[in-house]
Amino acid sequence: MKLSDNKATLSFSNGKSPVELPVYEGTVGPDVIDIRKLYGQTGMFTYDPGFLSTASCQSAITYIDGDKGELLYRGYPIEQLAVNCDYLETCYLLLYGELPNAAQKEEFDQRVTRHTMINEQMQFFLRGFRRDAHPMAILTGLVGAMSAFYHDSTDINNPEHRDIAAIRLIAKLPTLVAMAYKYGVGAPYQYPQNNLSYAGNFLRMMFGNPCEEYKVNPVLERAMDRIFILHADHEQNASTSTVRLCGSSGTNPFAAIAAGVACLWGPAHGGANEACLNMLEQIQASGGVAKVGEFMEKVKDKSSGVKLMGFGHRVYKNYDPRAKLMQETCNEVLAELGLEKDPLFALAKQLEKIALEDDYFVQRKLYPNVDFYSGIVQRAIGIPVNLFTGIFALARTVGWIAQLNEMISDPEYKIGRPRQLFTGHTTRTVKPLAERG
Ligand code: SDX
Repeated sequence: MKLSDNKATLSFSNGKSPVELPVYEGTVGPDVIDIRKLYGQTGMFTYDPGFLSTASCQSAITYIDGDKGELLYRGYPIEQLAVNCDYLETCYLLLYGELPNAAQKEEFDQRVTRHTMINEQMQFFLRGFRRDAHPMAILTGLVGAMSAFYHDSTDINNPEHRDIAAIRLIAKLPTLVAMAYKYGVGAPYQYPQNNLSYAGNFLRMMFGNPCEEYKVNPVLERAMDRIFILHADHEQNASTSTVRLCGSSGTNPFAAIAAGVACLWGPAHGGANEACLNMLEQIQASGGVAKVGEFMEKVKDKSSGVKLMGFGHRVYKNYDPRAKLMQETCNEVLAELGLEKDPLFALAKQLEKIALEDDYFVQRKLYPNVDFYSGIVQRAIGIPVNLFTGIFALARTVGWIAQLNEMISDPEYKIGRPRQLFTGHTTRTVKPLAERG
């Protein structure tokens, strides 16, 4: 980051002497006012719950222009990566900063492929869960449990440990997600197959069985790979900030990523794709497109607490570019499966049309986000609704690792420890039990 010629001056109406604060510039996007010395100079904190105006770090990985609806991974537009690259190339880019050449791609793909199996002991963890446990409950446990198996890659401050932990997490998440699914339906686990692509291997572990050969459908394979690319990273979102804060204590990479899995589960974040599909199914069951108007009235009535899931975003105040690409993927998959008339897809497009013309949404700059169409395409592929967020976690693991590694490699990083505005009781005396009213 570059010190700007511009400075910020903070003055106080109570006569307290003004404070000059440095301003720093990035390569693109808003400048920042450096408040690191503010408390020392003024005895005051800034106040920004939800971090609407706070940069928690500097990063060179992903940039979002919310007003333009642009998303760049290491400077490459998501639209170009989704068409010209596969997910493992995108992982390489996010982790190491450049797209791989042919030899680097081959070597990286091989490294990941050779780490897709998990320790046989881990399957016994699954047996401890109820069969109807939510897959995200299982995944949070399994990812954290990886730190009990890979002791040679738990030192977050050792670059070699960080690199092998990254490969292990990227390689094993598909295996763990597929196992969580198989466990839930009482079907046998499928071991990874090294002759398949990353996405093809995942589809086979999900839908293959020991009784017959599984044929990977190339259209579904490409769609799955694109879903992974679109979810790979997204600046300092809630789960990435969780991973950074968790990792800042020096804990091992598996524990930090498990914290990200837990945070992503929330319906305001990665759980929105599951919530969105459930919302579409509820509208469909209550009458479908004919009931959209009634539903939208509920959404606009704050007291209802009903939100249009898959819409709105903290940063995008324009169309989420991932939603556009996801809609295209939807078209491709539904056409391949002869489901062009999928009523939920028609309903989603109708909802989007009405919302984009409605003042309530226009004024609040509410557009479809990545979660609006992702559920429809995953459901068409055959993925159960309660596994959608697990797939989001699978894809986002590389982003979490890249961001964690960027933080740990920064010599200036410190353990994260926010302060507060205290509004509770000042000191008071404990009364003996008999005297308490
Ligand atoms: C993801 O941060 C990331 O990058 C996340 C993510 C990633 O890749 O990591 O992009 C993934 O989490 C996408 C978002 C998925 N969540 C949903 O689709 C859930 C529905 N969306 C909302 O919960 C909401 O839009 C958020 C949480 C996504 C953003 O909330 P903000 O930025 O805190 O905005 P807000 O809640 O203050 O909303 C501003 C206004 C409010 O109305 P007013 O108080 O101004 O009158 O818009 C309204 C909100 O009530 N609003 C919605 C709405 N989203 C916001 N009203 C109806 N339906 C919605 N979906």
